Amino acid sequence: MVETRKSPPREMDIVRPAAARIYDAFLGGGHNFGVERGFAERIEQALPGIGGCYQENRAFLRRTVEFLLARGVRQFLDLGSGIPTIGHLHEVARRRTRDFRVLYVDNEPLTVAHSKPLLADEPRADILQADCREPEAIFRSPEARELLDLRRPVGLLMTSVLHFIPDSDDPLGLVETYQDALVPGSHLVISHVTGTNAPEAVRVLADFYAETSDPLHPRETSWIDKLFGDFEILPPGTTNLADWRPDPGRPTSASDRYRLLYGGVARKSADALIPVQPVSGG
Ligand SMILES: C[S@@+](CC[C@H](N)C(=O)[O-])C[C@H]1O[C@@H](n2cnc3c(N)ncnc32)[C@H](O)[C@@H]1O
Repeated sequence: MVETRKSPPREMDIVRPAAARIYDAFLGGGHNFGVERGFAERIEQALPGIGGCYQENRAFLRRTVEFLLARGVRQFLDLGSGIPTIGHLHEVARRRTRDFRVLYVDNEPLTVAHSKPLLADEPRADILQADCREPEAIFRSPEARELLDLRRPVGLLMTSVLHFIPDSDDPLGLVETYQDALVPGSHLVISHVTGTNAPEAVRVLADFYAETSDPLHPRETSWIDKLFGDFEILPPGTTNLADWRPDPGRPTSASDRYRLLYGGVARKSADALIPVQPVSGG
């Protein structure tokens, strides 16, 4: 595997808002500071109802994890996980099965510190402080060795993280490195901010994020499609997140209005399908 990057660990920064805690503030979580709550309020004033987009991202994550569980995926690598509260991956998984493993990865030190106690009672999940631009370090970590069996299919989640990776760090090559490390039957979930449908709103959003410790890099939907590489994109294809297998009776949300989050789910190699299994109770 190619070692893509080696950098010092991200330093703690509580002066500027951080993406993990901005997201937590919009989700109504309790792991954020005044600087993030104030920031969220200012964005909401500039883009009324924008909070719905953050909630839509978390709802997309839930639906995709349920989809992967139904396809037999039992181990998950969640890159740029944020703080695992408010319906995060392991909560979704344990509502459906006892048989799952989750490795969360985030590079923001306080996010990891806040997450550790939340996962203390869950032996099937852990969080690693690492930069997702360093796949080899992640796969070689004791946490990954403990939780993930790379001979078996993995559900790789890169939701709302790749728009924090600048072009200079080659996000396309990065995703490809992860894809190469996974066996057939593995699935890739991506959500990403796009300026294609709402360029003005996304420009405003990016201007706000320029003052955070996680500047935003919105991209065109045609570029985001390329992130899936040679994986097979599964129905309904790449879409506005709200349109990806929506819950029945879902009301129109802010994300329908802004249409700034885009993504989908893809699978490695059609000839090595894992059988669809009923999800056991538990
Ligand atoms: C908006 S949150 C997304 C949380 C979760 N993935 C979701 O979709 O619900 C983005 C997270 O990515 C993390 N992040 C940003 N750049 C990263 C990097 N290079 N490596 C690892 N995590 C990163 C941030 O710290 C933040 O917690």
